[in-house]
Amino acid sequence: MRVIMLGPPGAGKGTQGERIASRYDVPHISSGELFRDEVARQTETGKRLRTYLEAGDLVPDDLVLSLIMDRVIAAEADGGWVLDGFPRTLPQAQAAAKVARDAEISAQAVVYLEVPAEVLAERLAGRGENRADDTAQVARHRLEVFTEHTRPLLDYYTQRGIIVRIDASPPVDAVSETIFAALDRIEG
Ligand code: AP5
Repeated sequence: MRVIMLGPPGAGKGTQGERIASRYDVPHISSGELFRDEVARQTETGKRLRTYLEAGDLVPDDLVLSLIMDRVIAAEADGGWVLDGFPRTLPQAQAAAKVARDAEISAQAVVYLEVPAEVLAERLAGRGENRADDTAQVARHRLEVFTEHTRPLLDYYTQRGIIVRIDASPPVDAVSETIFAALDRIEG
């Protein structure tokens, strides 16, 4: 199974991405988790990433691609992947599509999680893990960044016929069931 998770901050990409990865037994590759881990380990890369993450700004495309693409290729050997947080801009999507073509792999579905903005704000405010980018101000900025740079991917993937739109407002288990039903149909 090869799935891309798309949706605004707090929509549930991480929550549902982990469940999809577990159900279809493929690696869950989260760009945000990967970057936060680099920051926590205070690597040279982590020091570069930190400023972007704390501000809720996008990490530059070339840096993102250099950190993620090898992992995606490696995950192929494990039967696929769930990409959570990547691609996040049109240039990232185009670069990923080129590598995928060369390697003769492609996403089967892009799961787009739709949630009203006021629910997103509540979810991020209520998250227990104290992320530096969950303050109301930075969370608002992340939503603006999503709208400007990531939302256009909805059209990009709709044109490719692989978008699965999911109402992600209901409770977590109900959202998972809807996603699984759609992905089972695609896989079957
Ligand atoms: P990233 O970690 O990807 O953050 P995000 O997209 O802002 O998403 P979140 O992790 O906040 O939310 P989510 O949709 O995963 O929801 P979650 O499941 O956690 O990226 C962080 C930063 O890294 C970016 O700002 C950027 O700086 C950088 N970055 C990452 N990738 C990049 C890229 N490709 N290019 C450039 N920069 C990049 O759920 C949120 C909360 O809601 C949780 O508490 C959860 O328990 C709860 N919840 C989930 N679903 C439900 C539900 N159905 N009902 C009730 N509560 C729910």
